[in-house]
Amino acid sequence: MIPENPDVVHTVAFYLLFLSFVPAIIATSSSRQGSQNQDAKAVLYDSQPDLREIVFVIQSQSNSFHVSRAERQRADLLQQTQSLTQTPPPVLLLHSLTDNEGDWSILPVLPYLSLLFGKNSSWLVFLEEETNVKVTKLLQALRKFDRRKEWFLGKPLHDEESTIIHHYAFAENPSIFKYPDFSAAWALSIPLLDRLANKVRDDPLKSDFTIDLKHEVALYIWENGQGPRLTAVPELCTEPEHSPTAQHCATTLSSPAPLCGEPVKKEDIFVAVKTCKKFHTERVPVVKKTWEREASLLEYYSDHTDPSIPTIDLGVPNTERGHCGKTFAILERYVGDAVPKTRWLLVVDDDTLISLPRLQMLLSCYDPSEPVCLGERYGYGLGQGGYSYITGGGGMVFSRTAVVRLLASDCKCYSNDAPDDMVLGMCLNALGLPVTHSSLFHQARPEDYSRDFLAHQVPISFHKHWNIDPIAVFNRWLKDELGSTSPHGLNKSTKEEL
Ligand SMILES: *[C@@H]1O[C@H](CO)[C@@H](O)[C@H](O)[C@H]1NC(C)=O
Ligand SMILES: *[C@@H]1O[C@H](CO)[C@@H](O)[C@H](O)[C@H]1NC(C)=O
Repeated sequence: MIPENPDVVHTVAFYLLFLSFVPAIIATSSSRQGSQNQDAKAVLYDSQPDLREIVFVIQSQSNSFHVSRAERQRADLLQQTQSLTQTPPPVLLLHSLTDNEGDWSILPVLPYLSLLFGKNSSWLVFLEEETNVKVTKLLQALRKFDRRKEWFLGKPLHDEESTIIHHYAFAENPSIFKYPDFSAAWALSIPLLDRLANKVRDDPLKSDFTIDLKHEVALYIWENGQGPRLTAVPELCTEPEHSPTAQHCATTLSSPAPLCGEPVKKEDIFVAVKTCKKFHTERVPVVKKTWEREASLLEYYSDHTDPSIPTIDLGVPNTERGHCGKTFAILERYVGDAVPKTRWLLVVDDDTLISLPRLQMLLSCYDPSEPVCLGERYGYGLGQGGYSYITGGGGMVFSRTAVVRLLASDCKCYSNDAPDDMVLGMCLNALGLPVTHSSLFHQARPEDYSRDFLAHQVPISFHKHWNIDPIAVFNRWLKDELGSTSPHGLNKSTKEEL
């Protein structure tokens, strides 16, 4: 579910005027310790790469596949730093810092980071798992900025049109606002970290939905013009690692998607499509014309039996919004005897567009004996405890193990029309089962995402037919040439021209 009410607009907290003096006060008090000393140190820091003052934060996840990727990345960083410094810089895995599950949304964990590193470091550099870093080049890039000032650095993205995933922000001129492409890495100077940490501490986060984190973080920092904008750093790149155009880059991307083994067989993925009578003639034909043929086991669930599709009536009345009752009935059916036993379940809407061959490849990285819940992760109320969930429109993938665990708990819908994806998120949260994010799943249409962001990924899904030709969108973004569904199918060459 995506909130469509413009009231949900990310509420930027009112900024107390005196807070803007806080950095100045801190600066004055610390320079009192001996300005001579301080200046000498500053020159030293600016002329010599002191790696120890950089804190690397890998935006890691607790699923075992992602932990091993993040650990490999940490090992690589530490290896690079060995020849440069005796004491290695801190390399943190975001998912393991505190026991707050919502730390992936960054803002809640800033006070913790400020407490640990606010006094002895210069930069916080955030990396995604697939971000390759050339440490020496990164240091050179950072040294162009005075670390005693507030800086928010990254590779800028912008919207071409105002978009639902950004709550239609900057509707008059959507391209004016820049937010960082997390894949290229992004950085906060410590003075900015400290001020943001105070702000989070003094004025608890009020935003209810976390949808597109990179945009929301940039909005929070910019604070209606009271805070810094994103400063573009040309050395932060999303070019492929060995690209000839990446010579100047301090960061690059590893190959677009990892392939971990043989793709999961299509016979091992059960596909559940949620529909209802009014969409039998409108949306179901699109599924049939595009991706249905890639499925080995697929059922349409509706409030009405239609043998021509065919649909199955689960006996749950249709609801305008929500679908919690229907989705729980699907989960029950999936573990029951009526359908073949598969290791994976995919639940989609009738207006979801998805590449099953690409999903088969992605799933080769995950262990179905673990409770895996995979898709595009959203958050609800993360600033106050809240929970994360897989947003339904982009497709929700569950391992059988996860479904069994869910159904064994007494968690259920509070009403048939409760939002299924959010209720599932609540249930998983109560069970202590993590949801796993993949940026390849999309709750909205390609038009709703920044072009530069989509340019370096091979997407798995999009959602919604509104104002687009869904078949054209499928063909352009999700269809692979015949025969390219080989284990190499996920590489660059399969990507359509933008
Ligand atoms: C700063 O303090 C943290 C927490 O005590 C420590 O882990 C880190 O290594 C320190 N950094 C430097 C540059 O001393
Ligand atoms: C992907 O890359 C590999 C080698 O890197 C190549 O052999 C293969 O043909 C490529 N896949 C496609 C679909 O082009």
